Amino acid sequence: MSHQILVVDDQVSICQHIQAILESEDYHVGIAHRGDQALIKLSSQSFDILLADMKMPGMDGLELFKRARKIAPNISGIIMTAYGSISSAVESIKQGASDYLEKPFEPESLLLLIEKTLKEREILQELRDLRREVNRKYSFGNLIGKSHRMQAIYDLIKKVSATNARVFITGETGVGKELVAKAIHFNSHRKNKPFVSINCGALAETLLETELFGHEKGAFTGAIRRKEGKFEYARKGTMFLDEVGDISSNMQVKLLRVLQEKKLERVGGNQPIDVDVRLISATNRDIKEKIASGDFRIELFYRLNVVPIHIPPLRERIEDIPLLVKHFIRFFNKNLNKNIRHISVRAMDQLMQHSWPGNVRELENVLERAFVTTDGDTIDAVIFSLDNQGTEMGDSLLNINIDIPFLTARSIVVNRFEKAYLFEALKRYNGNVSKAAKGTGVNPRTFWRKINYYGLDYARLRSKVNSEPHVRVRH
Ligand SMILES: Nc1ncnc2c1ncn2[C@@H]1O[C@H](COP(=O)(O)OP(=O)(O)OP(=O)(O)O)[C@@H](O)[C@H]1O
Ligand SMILES: [Mg+2]
Repeated sequence: MSHQILVVDDQVSICQHIQAILESEDYHVGIAHRGDQALIKLSSQSFDILLADMKMPGMDGLELFKRARKIAPNISGIIMTAYGSISSAVESIKQGASDYLEKPFEPESLLLLIEKTLKEREILQELRDLRREVNRKYSFGNLIGKSHRMQAIYDLIKKVSATNARVFITGETGVGKELVAKAIHFNSHRKNKPFVSINCGALAETLLETELFGHEKGAFTGAIRRKEGKFEYARKGTMFLDEVGDISSNMQVKLLRVLQEKKLERVGGNQPIDVDVRLISATNRDIKEKIASGDFRIELFYRLNVVPIHIPPLRERIEDIPLLVKHFIRFFNKNLNKNIRHISVRAMDQLMQHSWPGNVRELENVLERAFVTTDGDTIDAVIFSLDNQGTEMGDSLLNINIDIPFLTARSIVVNRFEKAYLFEALKRYNGNVSKAAKGTGVNPRTFWRKINYYGLDYARLRSKVNSEPHVRVRH
């Protein structure tokens, strides 16, 4: 395909001259004599290069190039300048033009410049493709993460999406279980049918039953009309049973029957209805423990757990943190109408060393808070809510991840220990720093320095004396 070049000059003879030279080399040439004319052409046709004279009545060449890029962001610009006007040439380059061409010029120099510009475009395009390729590898649907554990999850999602197999997702709160469920649905042939999510833990038994199976008119007081259940509504789609471990034993039996017979009856009805729904379940509790204690039926578990997917906690894949941070910065810039460009080394260190009991959701919350409190364009430090930290991570303190170099890994463990230790001390002394320092034998100045370094929100602890010690992080 031959390349398209838009030539803009108020002198008709110059345009004709350039057109002749370019067409002799098989380039496609468009002509305009004014900036506004050129912009109209640009919005209806695509060009590789804009070759514009600097000095034109009305809009000058540089202004035209700037506006052209709003219409065609990838267009390359070459500005023609009068002999000796080096300052406008420099200005053009500064503004992002690929090059400038001094008038008058030999046909040969014009052609060489065009060739060079096209070559550069090709390289830029390759770079863009490469970047896209890398991004594709490091994300899946709305999931972000480059750790090999996330990559293994992407592979699993791809495989399982091609089937109707039931999937059972486990992982701590905020690790992205619902995102994984959606990624499976939207990658499957069911993607144009409903994705219905139901939080089994949030509904009382009878409510859950009518939610799932629907009811007939008059099935119970208040059932003034027939209601379709979620199973029917999700027909040919996917149903996400969240917190499935919380289902009562009665409901477990009913659900098991539906899965065995692939049919259900509405509450108060006796008409069997076919069920064609793919089931994805999730829990952040230890389901094995529930099975062992007799609170969850093992037959139901086997039915639901055809393909298990375990999402590891964020502290076991801290390589994902920088990428997630970049993702959330982009997200909050757009949604909170801010323009944050950087995050300081200190803030990044804080994020890498935190133990993230609330996982990705907590990271999202911490960054949102940082956005609200940051005035400039750099997040300088972050603050972690004390609601959600301390020693819950317990035995995972010594999590060994050999994907991280030894020295970094060691300092992360030491820092996590220090932070958890200081937190416990602050908790015991109700946020009173000097008492906590004295009680633990830490030099008070060191104690203060570390509080700042780890972003411990000790003041809140002071005001929260006697209130509940642990609250789950939620939106
Ligand atoms: N890998 C990820 N990439 C981007 N965003 C993520 C990722 N994992 C989680 N999130 C975000 O974190 C938040 C929590 O995710 P999600 O609701 O899927 O977690 P969950 O495991 O279902 O938590 P819970 O057990 O509390 O229900 C959401 O806002 C989600 O978009
Ligand atoms: Mg969830």
